[in-house]
Amino acid sequence: MPHKVTLFSLKLHDFRNYASIALGLDDRHVVLTGANGAGKTNLMEAVSFLTPGRGLRRAAYADVAREGAPGGFSVFAAIDGMQGEVEVGTGTEAGEEGQSRRLRLNGTAARSVDELLDHLRVVWLTPSMDGLFSGASSDRRRFLDRLVLSLDPEHGRRAADFEKAMRGRNRLLSEPRPDARWLDGLELQMAELGVAMALARRELVGLLADLVEASRDEGPFPTSAMALTGFLDDALDRPAYEIEEIYAATLRDGRFRDAAAGRTLDGPHRVDLMIRHREKDIDAARCSTGEQKALLVGIVLAHAGLVAGMTGHAPILLLDEISAHLDEGRRAALFDRVDALGGQAFMTGTDRAMFEALGDRARFLTVENGTIAG
Ligand SMILES: Nc1ncnc2c1ncn2[C@@H]1O[C@H](COP(=O)(O)OP(=O)(O)OP(=O)(O)O)[C@@H](O)[C@H]1O
Ligand SMILES: [Mg+2]
Repeated sequence: MPHKVTLFSLKLHDFRNYASIALGLDDRHVVLTGANGAGKTNLMEAVSFLTPGRGLRRAAYADVAREGAPGGFSVFAAIDGMQGEVEVGTGTEAGEEGQSRRLRLNGTAARSVDELLDHLRVVWLTPSMDGLFSGASSDRRRFLDRLVLSLDPEHGRRAADFEKAMRGRNRLLSEPRPDARWLDGLELQMAELGVAMALARRELVGLLADLVEASRDEGPFPTSAMALTGFLDDALDRPAYEIEEIYAATLRDGRFRDAAAGRTLDGPHRVDLMIRHREKDIDAARCSTGEQKALLVGIVLAHAGLVAGMTGHAPILLLDEISAHLDEGRRAALFDRVDALGGQAFMTGTDRAMFEALGDRARFLTVENGTIAG
């Protein structure tokens, strides 16, 4: 079994509808139940701030700070993490909401929130992801990149640097007589970063597909077939330096076209993740709501398993309103699969009875209007 990364203490201050709470936990799963608007998703969001990025709502920090409070919010957590016990503090201060959030590890200021990835990984599934299959390709790319990032912490920096180089190229191309050598330089940079991104994504999809395949007969969940399309589809089997050359040449040859379009038309920023329901052999976008949810559950759990297998540490799993679309049998099967991953899972719902099958594998908490009772 992988090591179980455990959150054993969580303190929130001026976080959404929580003025100030302190929560002690053990290594069991945590079930949060309560009425609509009680603060269940808010608490999950706070846990999602223990990983880089803007959390499971992709929030603007100004929205996170509690309304009516002076501004700023904080999340403190004590964790048995990937390098032993660690105390994490993160948040913003009043007037700094537009900036990135601060991070302290064991009381010392960290250079960047990326340092969180040395201590824990957090994987989530929320109702807002329900539209993933039928929504915009940018949502699927973001989903994919978050999956890659939790295995390859460099991926985020590469993607940001690629964006920057691409913006520079687009700007240059909009000039009447762009400097060709400067363009060459930016395109080489884009080729190196873009191909690294594409290969990291491809590797993740391959690993995930193997795991989904392996879980095929484990219970009532459908499995998905995944493929990437939209960027050098026929070239990605070649050695990396050749792919870089091909992409750099594509960019060079595409200058006129891209200048006319006002943007770069080829690149990893155009990739889409195609997902199909395997047993039925139809596009996930055409599946029923419940089928889509089950497919998504399968992907997210396979990913959590992948993170556990590759790092030796089971990630913290956030499953918001997970049982809503599932019948009793599928719910019990889901809990067993979550359990088998070996990590600590946080689950929410409006009805405690939905989680009965978990028995004493979980700690049950009731959320009410920004307070939590055991
Ligand atoms: N910055 C904020 N300050 C104060 N309250 C906020 C802030 N942001 C959101 N809220 C409030 O927090 C409440 C709880 O939201 P949350 O999404 O956690 O509810 P929930 O328990 O998950 O409900 P549901 O069952 O409907 O999903 C909402 O009423 C919302 O208006
Ligand atoms: Mg909610």
